[in-house]
Amino acid sequence: PNTAFIFDLDGVIVDTAKFHFLAWRKLANDLGFDFTEEQNEQLKGVSRVESLKKILQWGNMELSEDEFTRQMALKNENYLSYVEEMDDSEILPGVPEILDYLIKNNIPFALGSASKNARTILKKINLFEKFDAIIDGTDVSKAKPDPEVFLIAADKLNARPDNCIVFEDSVAGVQAANKGNMTSIGIGDKTVLGEADHVFKDFTEIEIEFIEKLLRKEK
Ligand code: G6P
Ligand code: MG
Repeated sequence: PNTAFIFDLDGVIVDTAKFHFLAWRKLANDLGFDFTEEQNEQLKGVSRVESLKKILQWGNMELSEDEFTRQMALKNENYLSYVEEMDDSEILPGVPEILDYLIKNNIPFALGSASKNARTILKKINLFEKFDAIIDGTDVSKAKPDPEVFLIAADKLNARPDNCIVFEDSVAGVQAANKGNMTSIGIGDKTVLGEADHVFKDFTEIEIEFIEKLLRKEK
């Protein structure tokens, strides 16, 4: 049986989490309210629709269906204006090294992202060709914390879920990996990602020995 690795995109492979935050915050500000960076943690990993629902709750606002759709489009336009400026210098530290290690050792890996912009971003940062499978917001019907996106990725990589190792920067994503019976590795703050099996500040903190230990646990 195959061990496979699954990477979230935003905040794991590339630092787009900050652009999502800026774009959502602008939307809230334009509607006349604000939210905190702490509240923003609840938006990470969450689909565009679910994110806007949460934000409107924070602002005690309701929008008509048309206005809701329009606001989502505006947010995405604003977000894409940041994405346009991106290149591979935005890849997070330690990521190229781990991907190269996996390629060298013939370990399959997939992208498992809630974003509908995932393919565009991977192309921008020149990583599109490296992934054995790409599952994103256009491929799923259930948003994280539902494990659907990761289960499809496991299936595409021919790996049993319990042989999959998922890297996530979001609470919703860690929960999705756990629900899918996968090993969850949090990338970020331990106090936020406490539900993960292991947490690292970033990829530069992960030693190859740690990866090898995970691989030996292959079932
Ligand atoms: C990722 C991000 C979220 C974002 C979601 C949908 O999970 O962490 O912040 O809202 O994808 O992204 P999209 O690019 O489709 O709006
Ligand atoms: Mg993320």
